[in-house]
Amino acid sequence: MKHKITLVPGDGIGPEIVAATVRVIEATGVDIEWETQILGSQALEKYGVTLPETTIESIKTNKVALKGPQMTPVGKGFTSVNVGLRKALDLYANVRPVKALPNVPCRYPELDLVIVRENTEGLYSGLEHVVIPGVVESLKIVTEKASTRIAKYAFEYARNTDRKKVTAVHKANIMKLSDGLFLECFYEQAKLFPDIEADDKIIDNCCMQLVMRPEQFDILVMENLYGDIVSDLCAGLIGGLGLAPGANIGEFGAVFEAVHGSAPDIAGQGIANPTALMLSAVQMLNHIGEREAAKKMHDALLAVFADGKSITRDLGGTAKTNEFARAIEEKMNS
Ligand code: NAI
Repeated sequence: MKHKITLVPGDGIGPEIVAATVRVIEATGVDIEWETQILGSQALEKYGVTLPETTIESIKTNKVALKGPQMTPVGKGFTSVNVGLRKALDLYANVRPVKALPNVPCRYPELDLVIVRENTEGLYSGLEHVVIPGVVESLKIVTEKASTRIAKYAFEYARNTDRKKVTAVHKANIMKLSDGLFLECFYEQAKLFPDIEADDKIIDNCCMQLVMRPEQFDILVMENLYGDIVSDLCAGLIGGLGLAPGANIGEFGAVFEAVHGSAPDIAGQGIANPTALMLSAVQMLNHIGEREAAKKMHDALLAVFADGKSITRDLGGTAKTNEFARAIEEKMNS
């Protein structure tokens, strides 16, 4: 079956890791027609807006996108393209598997958990305004609708992937109304999934527990900003940002992208690690029903790590981005 998928190369290392990933996907033999679209500063130059309708429409029509990281400058006048895209497509669930790879030095080689991050509201929405000069208000929005749907998604994901426990992460001891509502919705949903264990942890304790005893966790579900921060913490536990994949799932489409950003410090040098985006692509292939191709790609990637000969610089190796991709292709053909 032929699939049509939107491809967004992104900024910084984006085009390099996207090219390497597309090359490996195509080597699986899966039939994909790519529709390349742009966002951010590239779109600003061409269309006069950072989030063009053509890109949103392309993803809505194709229902699936593979996306490179998109830069958001810090400071005034720029709203995040990533946040805007997730809102425009209502990509409410951000699913980030955290699993160590063979041979990668890390604190927890056995770690295997999944973060499910609410993607549309919370304190991450960037709803800020100046009340009076010198005083800024930043709004945290929590709704029953979004909290219920993300909790339901986490429990359904647990059931579909044969996982046993979902932990809600929150700060309801201080933010009694907002995080309190999130937690209430979580336990309401938990009643509908008696086969899945449900518990909760306050975010600060959860961070400590993740560093000390991460094996107690299976699936973690949390609001947007907590998910943003805890994802990077977990990436650190398995060896770094170059290894952490992600999927943004909604009713009208799904966008697959790495957890990391555009890494401007190493852009254009051909040394970025494409693993996180490749693992996101494995998630994507499973999502579109190409399970065999997903397994082929995943197995070849794991074999390259097990070999340890073609590892990128961030993990202590010397392989360039395209050498790493070539090694995976060779494994698939061997
Ligand atoms: P970053 O994730 O781009 O980089 C942090 C550090 O990790 C850097 O030292 C970088 O070289 C390294 N790194 C990241 N990915 C790597 C890879 N694949 N291989 C090797 N090393 C890698 O985070 P930073 O610097 O905070 O953000 C840069 C830009 O990316 C910002 O404009 C930010 O807004 C944007 N960003 C975009 C995201 C997205 O499109 N989903 C997600 C996170 C950040």
